[in-house]
Amino acid sequence: MGYAFFIDMGQEITPYIKRLLMSHITGLSTVQLLAEPNLQLTEEQQTWFDEAIVRLQNNEPIQHILGYSEFYGRKFKCDRRALVPRPETEELVDWIISMHNAQCTILDIGTGTGCIALSLAKELPLAKVTALDISIDALSLAHENAEMLEVGNVDFTEGDILNMDNEHCVAREKYAVIVSNPPYVRECEKAKMEANVLEYDPHIALFVSNEDPLIFYRAIGEFGLSHLEKDGALYFEINQYLSQETCDLLIAMGYKNVELREDINGNARMIKATL
Ligand SMILES: C[S@@+](CC[C@H](N)C(=O)[O-])C[C@H]1O[C@@H](n2cnc3c(N)ncnc32)[C@H](O)[C@@H]1O
Repeated sequence: MGYAFFIDMGQEITPYIKRLLMSHITGLSTVQLLAEPNLQLTEEQQTWFDEAIVRLQNNEPIQHILGYSEFYGRKFKCDRRALVPRPETEELVDWIISMHNAQCTILDIGTGTGCIALSLAKELPLAKVTALDISIDALSLAHENAEMLEVGNVDFTEGDILNMDNEHCVAREKYAVIVSNPPYVRECEKAKMEANVLEYDPHIALFVSNEDPLIFYRAIGEFGLSHLEKDGALYFEINQYLSQETCDLLIAMGYKNVELREDINGNARMIKATL
């Protein structure tokens, strides 16, 4: 899994980051590069490397510079069209894979690069996966990732989960799994965010109002009440600062077995709930 690869801490240009760039242009692995301390780059490679350093200094995420991010052991194309996949989301995917059988029906709400939907489709090749997003840009990137990963069992569809029309194709089905990593960062949390996130990740993927930060959890929870199969489950990535409020909301809506999990860093990050 791509933990070591994900850099979200203000992008200090460490020797490791330089090796990632070198690895990208030379085709050598970061380990091979350790054994080649005097490696000479060609003029073209040196120009790309120097430009990449300037882009990093201008806060551009390394995933955009390389053009991809690793997620659940696979490469996903990344650019300004969608949120760069985060390692904690890999843990949510892992949870789902451990709980559900191969033939289930899955809906991913707010698919972005398609990292959740496509990883589930790869790991559960008999599953029928549908992926929804309001952003045409994100959907075009998710399509490209599906092609690159040779995934045939995902249907991508445009739609607004906050205003879901009963006639929309996703509203006409029932699902064993409804999963979402929706926008959950409150406007008041902006000040604490790194420039590489604020300037390059699409804001439609990140932010909710201070007044109603659980708007997506409420809308998706409501949707789940009528669109989950009898033994189905809802999975969310959540805002760690609103973990109790999110659990309480789901319990008040009638969900049972509301289970909160911490990520590898000990932050309350994921919820599973059933009807
Ligand atoms: C936090 S990103 C998650 C992207 C991806 N699933 C991931 O985990 O990396 C949230 C996604 O929700 C989408 N989104 C925002 N508002 C939406 C809405 N009203 N209906 C459907 N999708 C929405 C955004 O375009 C974005 O792709």
